[in-house]
Amino acid sequence: HPKNLLRAIQEDGDHLSRLSSRHIYSIDQFEPESLFQLFRLAAKYEANPDRFGTSLQGKILISAFYEPSTRTRLSFESAWHRLGGDIMSITDRSTTGIAKGESLADVGEMFNNYGDCVVLRDTNANSVREMMSALRIPIINAGNGTDEHPTQAMADLYTIFKWKPSLITSMGEEKINLCVVGLPSKMRTVRSLLKLVALFPQCFNQVTIVNDQTREDMFDEGQATQLTEAGINLHTCDCLDDVLPEADVVYINAIAWEGNSFNQYGKQFHITSASPLKKNAIILHPLARGAELCSSLDNTDHNWYFAQARGAVFLRQALLTCLVQRAERVLDIV
Ligand code: CP
Repeated sequence: HPKNLLRAIQEDGDHLSRLSSRHIYSIDQFEPESLFQLFRLAAKYEANPDRFGTSLQGKILISAFYEPSTRTRLSFESAWHRLGGDIMSITDRSTTGIAKGESLADVGEMFNNYGDCVVLRDTNANSVREMMSALRIPIINAGNGTDEHPTQAMADLYTIFKWKPSLITSMGEEKINLCVVGLPSKMRTVRSLLKLVALFPQCFNQVTIVNDQTREDMFDEGQATQLTEAGINLHTCDCLDDVLPEADVVYINAIAWEGNSFNQYGKQFHITSASPLKKNAIILHPLARGAELCSSLDNTDHNWYFAQARGAVFLRQALLTCLVQRAERVLDIV
């Protein structure tokens, strides 16, 4: 699969060299070509997992997770290790000066002295920008409250393109229907994914959001128009089984971290191996899963959620390389 994606995207390293030393806080910062190039580099790493073991040797990642995480923290750390770098990891804000009232900006000022890149997860939507204001090393938003989770969305689309590289090569001749079970206004994964989908109208015919909320509660201002103005048909529905027979990709997420706890949205929507899925449909889930995604699907061809989590390591390797390496070195690597 990664080799098929490599073949589908023509190399143009200049787009990646422009990412050098950038802060990454939102999908809004990206345009399609730089994303294609990131996916290409990720596919190159995935196709050759042992070949690039030293490109971040001597560099230090500060992995600051002030909110629980399994995949994002460990996949960023795995990505950094695979590139030969060292890591300092914070997994509990109560062990840092933040517990004494220190601001994230002051913590960021200190991080400048200790590492070469920061990956931050925090419950507060403003946290990334607050820390960014003091940082002279790049920071990556690994999930800020209900706002965004940009590298998750990149990993989601990377998975979709690996599954169907013809979405890229057919230049709009082939399009898919995406079903999203979730709440765009409250789920950072869904918010970032929809922003990303709006950048690729040549690949998506229809997006259907499945939830039981009113349309006003489902979307923040501008979220729906971003998709429709891109030319994507946007629908909402409160019956999952009505949508599944037409969906090529089903993205499901029923849990969101909000404030100080996990909240569930749409927990009445479940997918199981008995659901009326299209024969070739794939299912994505950012995980951790709850009852909404039945393990009866794990051993079916619909299960692309584990591949999605695996691919995130290579996607993050690609992004870290571009941020931390000098621009001319990035051109050598791609
Ligand atoms: N997908 C995701 O963000 O998972 P974690 O919360 O485990 O990092």
